[in-house]
Amino acid sequence: MAGSREQFGSKLGFILAAAGSAVGIGNLVGFPVGAAKNGGGAFLIMYAIFVAFICLPVMIAEMTVGRASQKDPLGALTNLSGHNRGWRMAGWLSIITPFMIAVFYLVITVWIFGYLFESSIGNLDELAQPETFGNFITSSNLFIYMAGVVAIIYAILRGGVKEGIEKAAKILMPALFIMLIILVVFVLTRENAFAGVRYYLIPDISKIDAGVVNGALAQAFFSLSLGMGIMITYGSYIDTRANLPSSAKLVALTDTAVAFAAGLMILPAIFSFNPEVNPDELSESSISMIFSYLPQIFLELQNSIGYFGASAVASFFFLLVFFAAITSIVSIFEVPVAALMSEKGMERKKALLLCVSLLIVFSAFCALSFGFVEFFTNFVSYAGADRSFFDLVYDVFYDTILPLNGLLICLFVIYRWKKHNFNEELDRGAPEFKNSLFERYVNFSLGTFIPGILLLIFVNTVALKYFGVALIG
Ligand code: PHE
Repeated sequence: MAGSREQFGSKLGFILAAAGSAVGIGNLVGFPVGAAKNGGGAFLIMYAIFVAFICLPVMIAEMTVGRASQKDPLGALTNLSGHNRGWRMAGWLSIITPFMIAVFYLVITVWIFGYLFESSIGNLDELAQPETFGNFITSSNLFIYMAGVVAIIYAILRGGVKEGIEKAAKILMPALFIMLIILVVFVLTRENAFAGVRYYLIPDISKIDAGVVNGALAQAFFSLSLGMGIMITYGSYIDTRANLPSSAKLVALTDTAVAFAAGLMILPAIFSFNPEVNPDELSESSISMIFSYLPQIFLELQNSIGYFGASAVASFFFLLVFFAAITSIVSIFEVPVAALMSEKGMERKKALLLCVSLLIVFSAFCALSFGFVEFFTNFVSYAGADRSFFDLVYDVFYDTILPLNGLLICLFVIYRWKKHNFNEELDRGAPEFKNSLFERYVNFSLGTFIPGILLLIFVNTVALKYFGVALIG
């Protein structure tokens, strides 16, 4: 099987695909607002440190495991552990997790697609009404948009690694960079924009507490697409000539640069288009920012560039977010597809059809969780509150299992697969990395404090989410 495995056509293709996975909704909206509200420049520095010293080693570990095994995460953990039962179970977890994250991420992508469509046909004024979002997510039109998004995902993944994922990344990512730069320049040249820049960048250490630190690390971890088996899967599509440490650095840098640039777009836009804004009232949730708040901000633009101009800017923004979301969801969805192909010997088309069918069913449950159907809306109850099906998937897989998967991969690489095997694979294609200070750092951190921190986050999340007990933050 390994001989016939599909491969990325070029190093650049691999980096763009991995960066496409990393750059997502979190970068464009969640990060800027989180940073601005939680200490500005102080948050940015902390985030950069987390990316460089905690997330980068984990990304390198995932890519290396993928390349060494030339397998999906389940196959990788099974083979490299010598068919150990426990590690095979961890492998299962890294197939189910991306699938379930894809389930809720699809719902958000569908909403974005709907907003893109509505704003481009001239309905921005309606999108800016406070009750619109609530109505939108309980309307049956949602399923039409869902069909559209699923068709796009299917079309990309049907093309396979080189003709599908890589080609899409090579078109969508440069387009995304250009659109982002255009929007940043447009926003920064508006009146009053610099109030937003100041709010974004001026450090305020007093806002940093344990909760903010925890949130920044979780954001960095999610943003780099770690713990989801994606970097293992993409790593399995490259050969030994690729330089893994430098590829991982580039991916991390691109992801962080996009997040930073997004801050130079979102915050100045808020301050410039709506000068009366009270920064403390900005919501930190990406969801309510994108769908309830930003359309109002875009509508304000009609005073200076007219309704048509405001709608064009809004559509351009939603297109940008949509591109970011599509490359992310494609990457996460490739994981279960790849697993079915190599573990069950299925053809790509068959594996894809099976996964897509399941995705539609589960995502429909999620989409129906917002008051549409009572059963899914009040699906379970824990820590003293009713939770919807969407909340459950989000809490369990995003908040809880992601750090656990990260923890497992660190332990796996250092203590099961063993350091010397890891380093040997890592040094292929990166001879200058051998015995370097950075390599020693990666080895040391993966075996000690990174799993320690991830364990702490995991325990804290379980205590808080399911038992209502706050240990930190
Ligand atoms: N990095 C993505 C983001 O910031 C996270 C993600 C990746 C989500 C892949 C889903 C799938 O939005």
